[in-house]
Amino acid sequence: MNSSEIVITCLPKLGWAVAEELESLNFPVIEIGHQSVKTEGTMVDCMQLNLRLRCANRVLFLIESFTAVHPDRLYKQVKKLTWESWIDPKGYISISSFVNNDYIRDNRFANLRVKDAIVDRMQSETGQRPDSGPELDATVIFLHWIENKCSLYFDTSGETISKHGYRKYPHKAPLHESLAASIIRATQWDGKGAFINPMCGSGTLAIEAALMHYDIYPEIWRKNFSFMHINPYDYKEWALLKNEYSPKIPGKPTVKIIATDISGRALDAARNNARAAGVDHLIEFHKCSFERTIIPLGEGIVILNPEYGQRMGEEDSLEEVYGEIGDYFKQKCAGKTGYIFTGNLNLAKKVGLKASRRFEFMNAKLDCRLLKYELYSGSTRSSDLSD
Ligand SMILES: C[S@@+](CC[C@H](N)C(=O)[O-])C[C@H]1O[C@@H](n2cnc3c(N)ncnc32)[C@H](O)[C@@H]1O
Repeated sequence: MNSSEIVITCLPKLGWAVAEELESLNFPVIEIGHQSVKTEGTMVDCMQLNLRLRCANRVLFLIESFTAVHPDRLYKQVKKLTWESWIDPKGYISISSFVNNDYIRDNRFANLRVKDAIVDRMQSETGQRPDSGPELDATVIFLHWIENKCSLYFDTSGETISKHGYRKYPHKAPLHESLAASIIRATQWDGKGAFINPMCGSGTLAIEAALMHYDIYPEIWRKNFSFMHINPYDYKEWALLKNEYSPKIPGKPTVKIIATDISGRALDAARNNARAAGVDHLIEFHKCSFERTIIPLGEGIVILNPEYGQRMGEEDSLEEVYGEIGDYFKQKCAGKTGYIFTGNLNLAKKVGLKASRRFEFMNAKLDCRLLKYELYSGSTRSSDLSD
């Protein structure tokens, strides 16, 4: 297959992170959207992107764009395409979509028209028709249809690449893996100083930091991607890519990554998750309250993701915790850069330090911030932290 438009989808507000990743992998960034970034390349490029992107959800490869207002026109246009050259007639297809069109009240109807067009075409060209359904473990086709503009893509990922496959043991409110990777990107941690993560929960931030620092691409262990179900699947190229990016995990850490939590259960989950990711020996785990987390000398970042207090009555008890985080930053973390990731901006004010930067994120549907604090000795105290 020749070069085509590639759309990388991501969680809301992570377009910048995917764009940065694409640039670091030498892909052009053509357009950055709220939940997607456009680039271009071949199906082999899609393999590489599935393997190496940490902040993305899916890699979509454009098959064809056309105009259609009515679903019958959609059916006709889709049926014209040479599906028999791309899909195994005994295979399995799944259709998903994003649709905003006056004739479509339920996306499932648009999906059905696309599915019918594909199987009718395959039946007439090969005498056989693939099965279809919701499973994302074979050929996945994505329809983007806004008013009269239709684009059909192969979803080359199938199951999302935003979960990095290691989280076997979730604890309370774990961060999405691609969100954690994007948060670390926002901190610009370059692996020269320590990465200290009190309140680590199930360990997502510390594990993602280790995966980044040691150039480990967690999708390398994944066995199935949708690109393997699109003909011609170049399995030799995939084998070469896997070989080129196979992890070289050191026996000993070359940087301090420290993860602590007050809860033994959280730490067990974090250790087990880190083991599943192959990096448990590269992270120091300690069970302690955040204020007792030992801060090594030298530069580094201290990053916390405290609870947000979303249920009634929780916020009051958390006010004190956020205030104590401010004290901890001021008294014990001088010389480091502090970060707090939270979905509660009222609680963030209780930290009592002036944030030097704030980065916007979304976690599920909640507006969140990553707040940055420069912790030189005698950090600015502020009674109005809100800005
Ligand atoms: C929102 S969760 C962190 C989730 C984590 N980022 C992840 O991806 O799994 C907050 C964590 O803070 C821990 N915690 C709460 N109070 C604490 C304290 N005083 N000292 C240390 N850890 C605390 C909880 O046990 C919980 O694991």
